[in-house]
Amino acid sequence: MAPIDPHSFTDSTHPLTTHIHLSFYFDFPSSTIHSSALLSLSSPHSGPLFLDIRSLTVHSVLDPQTRNPLPYSLSEPDPIKGQNLVVSLSNHSSVLVVYSTTPASSALQWLNPPQTFNKTSPFVYTQCQSIHARAVFPCQDTPAARICYSARMNIPRQLSAVMSARHVDRRPPVAGEGAALPCGDALWCAEGRLVEEFVMEQPIPPYLFAFAVGELGSRDVGPRTRVYSESAPAVLEAAAAEFAGTEDMIRQGERLFGDYEWERFDLLVLPPSFPYGGMENPRMVFLTPTVIKGNASGAQVVAHELAHSWTGNLITNKTNEHFWLNEGFTTYAERRIVEVVQGEERAALNIGIGWRGLNEEMERFSDNMEFTKLKTKQEGVDPDDVYSQVPYEKGFQFLWRIEREVGRPVFDEFLKKYIATFKFKSIDTEMFLEFLKTNIPGIETKIDLVLWTEGTGIPPDAFEPISNIYTKIVTLANEFKAGRMPGEDEVADWQGQEWELYLENLPKSVEASQILALDARYRLSESKDYEVKVAFLQLAISSGCSQYHGEVERTLKEVGRMKYLRPLYTALVQGNGRQEEKIFAKRVFAEARDCYHPIAQGVVESIFSKHM
Ligand code: BES
Ligand code: ZN
Repeated sequence: MAPIDPHSFTDSTHPLTTHIHLSFYFDFPSSTIHSSALLSLSSPHSGPLFLDIRSLTVHSVLDPQTRNPLPYSLSEPDPIKGQNLVVSLSNHSSVLVVYSTTPASSALQWLNPPQTFNKTSPFVYTQCQSIHARAVFPCQDTPAARICYSARMNIPRQLSAVMSARHVDRRPPVAGEGAALPCGDALWCAEGRLVEEFVMEQPIPPYLFAFAVGELGSRDVGPRTRVYSESAPAVLEAAAAEFAGTEDMIRQGERLFGDYEWERFDLLVLPPSFPYGGMENPRMVFLTPTVIKGNASGAQVVAHELAHSWTGNLITNKTNEHFWLNEGFTTYAERRIVEVVQGEERAALNIGIGWRGLNEEMERFSDNMEFTKLKTKQEGVDPDDVYSQVPYEKGFQFLWRIEREVGRPVFDEFLKKYIATFKFKSIDTEMFLEFLKTNIPGIETKIDLVLWTEGTGIPPDAFEPISNIYTKIVTLANEFKAGRMPGEDEVADWQGQEWELYLENLPKSVEASQILALDARYRLSESKDYEVKVAFLQLAISSGCSQYHGEVERTLKEVGRMKYLRPLYTALVQGNGRQEEKIFAKRVFAEARDCYHPIAQGVVESIFSKHM
């Protein structure tokens, strides 16, 4: 007996779950889902079966055939893995768990009507990557165990549901359906309720399970793409305009990587508290509203989540220790799509921003070099705490290095074959390297594959991009250090990404007077583009400009995207002797906390505990 994944109780000697049928009764007033999960195993099993759960109340475990109770026990909670739900089976090939979620579920964010755009209805959504699916339903919560699922969602009639699955029906509740649930049949069939049904027939890792329930509206933007958001015409119109180019990107993806296997590619724009830029939930990508900027830059995030349809969702990292297989490949694939639809210069700019980010992560992890590796050891490590640009940008650099070695045509053929060979499989770094060496014989004599995948730091054959805009911006940033401000004519055609690259290439802190002069001229602290605004505010805090506290506070209360929370809170609390800023950070967090997703709450808390 041995665990197959450091983040899961799943045991190597147990059969894996192949299908899960879920029934959910959404009780918004108590922020609870009353549920049952019917798990089907790949083969009959006798003895203990280990399932992951976190913040769930288990009411009973039943033999689905006879409805007789099955013995079970729960381990003491582990701070990272949650609890092991140990069920005793005797030649069973399925098991039914009756349970309720709790308001503490780390995967779920429940929003009261006042926290939504329209302020009239509640809203709830999931974020399961990396190890939060277990806080929605009991499962073998490892990407090594791919599952199909079906779901019945019982919701208030004025709301609707979306999932990372095919929608099959919206209908009245049927008597008897709720009998085995903790809510009972009377509530299930009560006036004002209805049921939405979904199926996901393709095997996916549990972290790709997703739903959202709220007062949703939608607009078609392409033959297989519809954007959903809270039903507000202004939001929907802006989203539809921002994502109008999606079908073009799907076609480019198919040309580069093979057929799009998921039938639909719909997009859901979430409330501002969504903790990520995007999440690649199959058939229904989740997006932060901060990508809607009215200048088509949201396309980059969509290109990234779309690229996961091949790298990540078709081929999946076997455990989070091989996370670079998901994000490194996807960052590479994203940039290939961007290169076609937005041009080489834009792609080079993205590579440059990534290169800067990668170099910065080396400083962040200078006392913990393990997390500068592609393949990492994560026993006892919470994936949310070590989330970084390394798997994205070092992974990208590794693949880009291989591309340079073999040439683009050969690499493109290799990628297509890699995807066709491993689709719907979960793999590790070794399997990739074996495949690479078999298909590109001699590659290991040209590139130090072990150094790239197991070594710390940035290998010497990594590459800073060369392009006109990139070089120009980096030069201007270097001149700022010597006291020269960029001229109006030099920045006239700069969009958000140009400013982002510029700001990120400035020193960590500069003279406060320089910050004020830059802002007086270009109003960066008021930018509508959060990437620019946050990069500027971070620099302002580190340079000791306390006049921006008001703007920092507003930003931290407006958005819950961790890409913005992390640098702002870190800039406020790191270092010694700035007690006033630490107190300020604590107060703002106390006031904003309820608006953050539980994962973001945890991440901010761990920044505080590291620095205070
Ligand atoms: N899968 C990730 C988001 C994620 C990673 C969630 C790890 C939970 C744990 C997603 O594809 C992603 O990388 N999003 C980026 C988008 C960007 C690279 C364009 C983000 O959210 O910033
Ligand atoms: Zn990604």
